[in-house]
Formats: sequence, C-alpha cells, structure tokens
Amino acid sequence: MAKINSTPVSIVIFGITGDLARRKLIPALWKLFIRGNLPDDFSIIGFIRKKWSDNDLKKYVEDILKQENIKTDAKNKGRFIKSISCVFGDYSEEKSYKKLSDKLLEIDKNIGKCCLKLFHLAVPPEIYEVIFEQVHKSGLSGMRAGEGGRTRMLVEKPFGNNRREAEKLDQRLKAFFKEEQIFLVDHYMGKESMQNILKFRFSDSSLEHLWNSSFIEKINIRLRESLGMEGRGDFYDQIGALRDVGQNHILQMLAFIAMEDPVVFEAEAMRRSRAKVLSELHIIAKKELMKFVRRGQCEDFLKEPFVSPTSKTETYFHLEARVENKRWKGVPFFLESGKYLGISSVEIEVVFRKKNLRLGPRGEKLVSKNAILFRIQPNGGGTPDAYERVILDCIAGDQTFFASAEEVLASWEFITPIIENWKDIPLEKYARGWIPKK
Ligand code: BG6
Repeated sequence: MAKINSTPVSIVIFGITGDLARRKLIPALWKLFIRGNLPDDFSIIGFIRKKWSDNDLKKYVEDILKQENIKTDAKNKGRFIKSISCVFGDYSEEKSYKKLSDKLLEIDKNIGKCCLKLFHLAVPPEIYEVIFEQVHKSGLSGMRAGEGGRTRMLVEKPFGNNRREAEKLDQRLKAFFKEEQIFLVDHYMGKESMQNILKFRFSDSSLEHLWNSSFIEKINIRLRESLGMEGRGDFYDQIGALRDVGQNHILQMLAFIAMEDPVVFEAEAMRRSRAKVLSELHIIAKKELMKFVRRGQCEDFLKEPFVSPTSKTETYFHLEARVENKRWKGVPFFLESGKYLGISSVEIEVVFRKKNLRLGPRGEKLVSKNAILFRIQPNGGGTPDAYERVILDCIAGDQTFFASAEEVLASWEFITPIIENWKDIPLEKYARGWIPKK
C-alpha cells in the first residue's frame, strides 16, 4: 500500500448515494481515516442530484456505517462526519460544476493550502463522458494540474461497452486530462492476494524455469459467487457477466499469472507487461465460438426486480483462452465466472503436466496432478480492503495497480467479438446453488 500522504485532499464522489459508494467507498474511507491513513485535512464531497442538505448526506453516511456493522466511536465518528458535505446539481449542467468548483476553492482557502482533488466516478458509465467534459469546462481538470496533476480522475469499470466505445472514451478522457491524472479502477488489482501473485512469481528465480508450456498443462481462473443481483438487476441486465467481471477482473488475473517479469516494480513497466500479455490473447473467431465459449443464465435472474422477464443476459460464462506467445504456446486458460452458484470463491489454479513415470505402489492408478492454487478470495481477512488501496494509491499518484488504456483496449479486443456473437451461443439454464464441475 502506498505511504501515508500529508497533502490535504478533497475527494469528490459522483454517485455517493449509489451501491458502490455504500458498499465499498464509504467503508473504505472510514477505515483509512481510522487507521490514520488519510491526511489530517481531508474532505468528502458528494455531488448529488437529490436536493439534499449537508446534514442529509451526513446522516446518510452515518446510517451506512451502522448498516455495514462498522465499529465506530463517537469522537472519531464526529470528526469523520464533519468532513462530509454535498453539492446539489445535475451531471450535465455547467452551473452545478461552478458550485462544485467554488466549494473546492473555499475548502482550499480555509485550509490555506491547495488540496489534491480526487473525482471518483461511481456512476453508470454512460454518464462518464459528460462528467469528463463538464469537469474540464469548469476549470476543475486544470486546478493546479500544471504543477504535477493536482486533480485526479478515478474511473470505474466497465470502461465502455466494447472496443470502439472504450477507444472513444479514452480519447475524450485524454483530451481533457493528462495521463498522470487518469486512474482507471479495477479493484481486483488492489487486492493483497492478487499483488502477492507478483511477489510469489518475481521475488526470486525459483519458478521462472517452470512457468511455461513445458511444465504447465493448463490454468483455471474462477470467480464464483453465490450472491445474486443485490439490487443491481437493472445495471447487470444491460451488461452481463462477461462485461461485468470478464473483461476486467478475470483478464487481470490472467495478466498477473501470465505476464513477463516487468523487471522493476514501477507503474510503467508493470502496465506495459500486463498490456503486452493481454494483447497476445488469441482472438476467438466466429467459427471457433462453439468450441471455446459457453454461457448460462440462472433461472432466478429473471425474477429479479428491474430484470426483463425475457432477458437473454448471461449470469455465467466459461471460456477457453489462449495466449499466443512462446511461453504459453498450447496452454489453455479456462476462464469462468458466475452468480447464484452453490459456492463463493475466487482462485487461480496452475496445473502441472504429469510425468510418464511416476512413483507409487505397484498397480495403483495415479491420477492426481500437482497444482499451485492462488486463493484470491476468501483471503483469510485482516488485510485492507481493495478499495482502501485504490484510494490510497490514487492519493499517492501511484498508477501501478490501475489499468492503462492499452490494457483496457487489449481486453476489449478479446471480449468484443465474443459479445457480438453471443446470440449464436446457446444460453444454458441453471438453478440457484449449482456448482460447476472443476
Ligand atoms: C464487481 C462486480 O466489479 O466485482 C460485481 O461488478 C462483483 O458483480 C464484484 O460481485 C466482485 O468483487 P469482490 O471484491 O466482491 O470479489
């Protein structure tokens, strides 16, 4: 995790009354605060469309801390809640951003220093473009941006809906912000269990000679969830499992496992190495789809609020990916994810090849194979939540565990042709609680 930063910070959350802020961002900010990881001067500003007063938002945040069973004490809670305020406005209205900019400048004035300003976009992706534009127009993107990028944009996934849209969005973003101001979030990269993969692989040379197709037979990457929609049916019905977690979390797991040694632990090298392996994914041709891709839908999905009863959106997928380079020639990567399953676990299993001659009692059939299992989740607890790292790394300006545009575009390059041909792949029905075979 990045070092504690003493620069004062103002964190603007677009979508502070939404699901992501409730479940992840507010609890993460609280935990950072209580551990002393936030600078002494910090402010949280919600940009909201509801006509709320500061007190309404303070009360809302207090309720979240209660609901999420977060341990608080009166003194600290008071200090945390004091830092919260809101700006009422419309995402596309210029004067709302003027209000926001006035508020941020007022905070700077009161503190007597120019705060680092984070803008966290926890809103549906179709609103991103207008926010980029308006933030820029109102001068917020340039608030001391010339002096090392004092304004930073945290943009959630999905970044676009396909390759073309992601490219367009990237061009818009880059038209208004410098590279060092852009933080594309994939919270899986913020998980300690994910970062440990890199330590395990690259801290010494013990694995390097084994990490290739001569020794490795296949790699399974599974993100299995027993949870269903949790009130996100509307959003999910429009995107489905492959866009929700396949294009990002699962492909980042693949990148961490399959990338070449970045040699130095620095953002640029790390991102270049991940982007390279993602760009080496074999693009599944239309005629190969049936062989490599399966998709499913849980029966209960159609009963969710705001989900069309005739929806054909997948809640499960299984696909076989190949990385076309020397190291991974011929090694299948089986990528799988689903909701409403009878199991909740996220793991990467690296399975080694069998030897022809194996030791064992005479006549006994040996079927087992050696494997290394990276358990991403559950992770035993006690480690900071991924979103704590995301926020802290952004404050520190460390982009190592944020996706670069090249990574995002390479992932879409692989995913888009599959999604464009989804309708050709039969939608297999499954019941809640189903456990896919390993
Ligand atoms: C999110 C997806 O990005 O990741 C959710 O939108 C999914 O659908 C979640 O449940 C999984 O994250 P985690 O950290 O709970 O494994």
